[in-house]
Amino acid sequence: MLPSLALLTVALLCDKSVGIRYEPNWQSLDSRPLPQWYDEAKFGIFLHWGVFSVPSYHGAWFWYYWKGPKPVPSVVQFMQENYPPGFTYADFAPQFTAEFYDPHQWAEIFQASGARYVVLTTKHHEGFCNWPSKYSWNWNSMDVGPNRDLVGDLASAIRKSTDLKFGTYHSLLEFFNPLFLQDMANNFTTNDFVARKTMPELYELVQRYKPDIIWSDGDWEGNSTYWNSTNFLAWLYNDSPVKDTVVVNDRWGTDTMCKHGGYLTCHDHYNPGKLQKRKWEDCSTVDKGAWAYRRNIKLSDIESTQDLITQLVEAVSCGGNLLLNVGPRRDGIIAPIFEERLREIGQWLRVNSDAIYSTRPWLFQNDTQQPGVWYTSKKNTFGESVYAIVLKWPRSQDFLLASPQPSPQTTVTLLGYSQPIDWSKGKLGGLELTIPVIPFDQMPCQWAWVFRLDKLNNV
Ligand SMILES: *[C@@H]1O[C@H](CO)[C@@H](O)[C@H](O)[C@H]1NC(C)=O
Ligand SMILES: *[C@@H]1O[C@H](CO)[C@@H](O)[C@H](O)[C@H]1NC(C)=O
Ligand SMILES: *[C@@H]1O[C@H](CO)[C@@H](O)[C@H](O)[C@H]1NC(C)=O
Ligand SMILES: *[C@@H]1O[C@H](CO)[C@@H](O)[C@H](O)[C@H]1NC(C)=O
Repeated sequence: MLPSLALLTVALLCDKSVGIRYEPNWQSLDSRPLPQWYDEAKFGIFLHWGVFSVPSYHGAWFWYYWKGPKPVPSVVQFMQENYPPGFTYADFAPQFTAEFYDPHQWAEIFQASGARYVVLTTKHHEGFCNWPSKYSWNWNSMDVGPNRDLVGDLASAIRKSTDLKFGTYHSLLEFFNPLFLQDMANNFTTNDFVARKTMPELYELVQRYKPDIIWSDGDWEGNSTYWNSTNFLAWLYNDSPVKDTVVVNDRWGTDTMCKHGGYLTCHDHYNPGKLQKRKWEDCSTVDKGAWAYRRNIKLSDIESTQDLITQLVEAVSCGGNLLLNVGPRRDGIIAPIFEERLREIGQWLRVNSDAIYSTRPWLFQNDTQQPGVWYTSKKNTFGESVYAIVLKWPRSQDFLLASPQPSPQTTVTLLGYSQPIDWSKGKLGGLELTIPVIPFDQMPCQWAWVFRLDKLNNV
């Protein structure tokens, strides 16, 4: 008995996370190391789904643009022309039918995309809960609309049939909740809404669905003292059922974005193009114009696979992840055009996975001379592999990369292609690749190509 107890003690002492308790203040919470799985994952799928998927016009802020302080004329007109007078936003909810919602089919699409995590809106700014919350009387997916636990069903399907992580998006504020509007009218000197709605909901979500990510949003009114965020996060990190694995973002009150929390999102579509000190995420959407599904989407609104792979590559080279959104339809269908984009990214990732997952930013993020070349790197038994990700197939046979410095032992491989790539030393330094002439139908992939550089001389 004794030796194993001794071993256990050593194991406990070596695990730095054991015994640390985080205090409910940002300095302490910010010191928590980000669970490693998140940095390794690189790519996730974001899903905006709710009652706004019913009008399916203009996006997830539909209600606000219709009834908020600054109505958008096209939204007001859309309601006048298509709905009877007296129709309210709540009247949309019964049409949130989700009759084709097949979470196993979704899980299969997400897995095929190469994503390693999924983040679903459990509640957007409209306040509608996609799970049967005890704190929502009738404004949730069990009591009206789908009559289903949308969150729970996706969580189970993802966990049953994939190894993806499951995350929950949750909006702190609700545009028109009377309790919230009262707190706001009191200049946030009261916090009834937080005590009776936001916080009970968050604890419920964590206890019930054990999310791997909490993607907080709706943080631009009220500071983190009002939202009680640090108390929640201290519980989450110290005592919750997901304390060792959960990852959170930075949207926890007016004083936190791009500063405090887990990883940084800074603003939507954040893609700084430069190495950042802290882990960050670019949340972006396949429909350039909206997060929610729009029935009147145009083909030109949809990002090309080329652009989406470019975003992923730029993010990963600069130490970020890409969280790519698609908006499912009110009936539970993910539009085939979105599905095709996701499957194509997956097709690319299957050839080029080594250059993305579990990589680290390299000494250079993009080439100092050659445009459209981004780098990632990975430690291995003989040092380090550097991946030069080339976004345009080179026009000439001699292709100079200025940042890598070759050694006599340097080898170059094109991922997905069997012959080694010839190279020479650039006249003024750098590594000059001899691009092979590959028949079109034997190209390892489309959209971007990866040259793995081993045994370089760069320190
Ligand atoms: C809130 O702040 C504004 C501006 O400082 C002030 O005019 C108003 O009286 C305050 N309201 C309450 C309820 O404290
Ligand atoms: C804030 O969190 C603390 C600790 O969990 C709790 O005691 C307090 O009631 C919370 N306040 C609100 C307004 O939720
Ligand atoms: C939030 O605002 C209140 C009231 O103005 C203030 O007392 C508190 O210190 C602020 N909290 C933060 C974290 O800035
Ligand atoms: C890439 O690197 C060059 C030179 O180091 C720099 O001027 C440029 O802004 C970088 N970014 C992009 C997107 O090319």
